[in-house]
Parts: sequence; C-alpha cells; structure tokens
Amino acid sequence: MEFSDKTISQNLNTEIFGRKIFFFKSIKSTMDYAKKLAEKDEPEGTVVIADYQSHGRGRFGRIWKAEPEKNILMSVILRPTIPIEKFGILSILTSVSVAEAIEKNTDVKVTTKWPNDLLINGKKFCGILLEASITVESGDFVIIGIGINVNQENFPKEIQDYATSLYLETGKIFDRTILVQDILRSLEKNYIRLSNSQDFKSVIDSWKKRCDMFGKKIMVIHGGKTIIGKAIDVDEKGFLLLEDENSKLLSLSAGDVTIAK
Ligand code: BTN
Repeated sequence: MEFSDKTISQNLNTEIFGRKIFFFKSIKSTMDYAKKLAEKDEPEGTVVIADYQSHGRGRFGRIWKAEPEKNILMSVILRPTIPIEKFGILSILTSVSVAEAIEKNTDVKVTTKWPNDLLINGKKFCGILLEASITVESGDFVIIGIGINVNQENFPKEIQDYATSLYLETGKIFDRTILVQDILRSLEKNYIRLSNSQDFKSVIDSWKKRCDMFGKKIMVIHGGKTIIGKAIDVDEKGFLLLEDENSKLLSLSAGDVTIAK
C-alpha cells in the first residue's frame, strides 16, 4: 500500500482538486507549505500532503500530533469566489465532504461537532483548520487543513477519552490512498456545487443532519470564557446560536464545545 503523490494521482479523475500534489515524507506543517505555494500563484485545488508533520497545528494554536505513516495530513489551496465573510462555510463543506468519503469506505456513522470536528461514536477522529489570506498580490485564498486519524492504534493518555482513529473504531487498516482520493472527489463535487449555486443553506443542512447537539445542554469555551447554555442552531455563516442560562440568545463564531452528559 504505497502512499505517494503518484498513487493518489492514479485514476483520480478530478478537474480541480489534486491536479497538483506535493508529497512529503516529513514536513513542518502542510499549512505553511500550501500558503507559500498559494502566494506563488499555484492553482486552486493544489494539495500538500505529508506522512509526518514535526509542527502540525490545530485550532487556537494547539499542536496536532500524529504518528508517521499512519494518518492523513493534508492541506488544500482554495481560491473562493464566495464573499469573504462567508469563508467559514468552507470548513463546514469540508467536514461534510470528509464525512461522506469516510462513510463510503466504512460502515461507521460520522457525526459533526461544531465548529469543525468529525466524530465516530462520540470521539474525534478528524480535525479541520481553515486559514484565510487576503492579499492583493496573489488574490484572496484559503488553505483548508485536514487531519484524519486513520491507522493509529495508540493515543496519549490525556486524550484517550476524546480521540480515536478509523482503525480503533472498525478494527481495520485502511489504504490512505483510497481515502484521500475519495475525499478529493467529494470535496470537488460539493465545492463546485456551492460555487455555482451559492446555496449555503443546503451545505449547512447536510452538516446539521450529522450533528446531535441541538436542544442539548452544552459548554462552550470562547475567548477565555466558559458559556453554558442550550445549543439552538448553526446559521448560514456557520455561527453557533446558543441560549445562555439567562435565556439570552448568543451567536458565536468560534469556540470549543463539550456536550453535557
Ligand atoms: C483541529 O481540530 O484543531 C484542526 C486540526 C487540523 C490538523 C491538520 S493536519 C494537516 C494540516 N496541517 C497542519 O499543521 N494542520 C492541519
């Protein structure tokens, strides 16, 4: 099961996503490399993928650790035509696309957790990171980072209760090439559909169908504050609507959610 730019390109049959692939055995972070490529005018859909990252990062500057040669660590360059204030929809679209690709290759049910985590049986196996650059020289672009725990068997003690992998949930070892190809195909289909239709609602609706936090009591850590309340909805910008303990409706653009047991 060789995993390389060559194997991913074979029979990929996409028009935009993955037409150019930069593959690394080891890199600091695929995000930084993709950003450099985007600044040098590499086209939309260009993929940077690595077997290992020494400085992988997650949201809020956290570290994204993944064992070498077992996982999917990739970044994709987008040059969206949608308005800048709506760029947040792209991580929601990516969540839905990854969920569809994973379900195509497994018999697990993938659920979404706001803002952009993917879970199996309540544990996170995929994180998505969106970094946007608004530049005059190379136009506005977005780098979407996707980290998926695929064949990793062990996780550090501190995160064992929250983190999982496809292997741990299914008992099977997966061919990462096939998963990456299906993710790129599904991303392309959903991205082209959104770009043509500008139908943000149907992307949010697909995401909401997979999310089981609505109506539940949740805790959100946001800007150093902890807010407890009931999850009401996610709007078309991807903001979370929450009713706090004083029945006040809040709209949050970012944060970390825990669902109360
Ligand atoms: C999160 O859940 O906090 C987002 C994690 C995103 C991790 C991916 S792995 C590939 C890409 N390169 C990085 O350094 N981060 C993203």
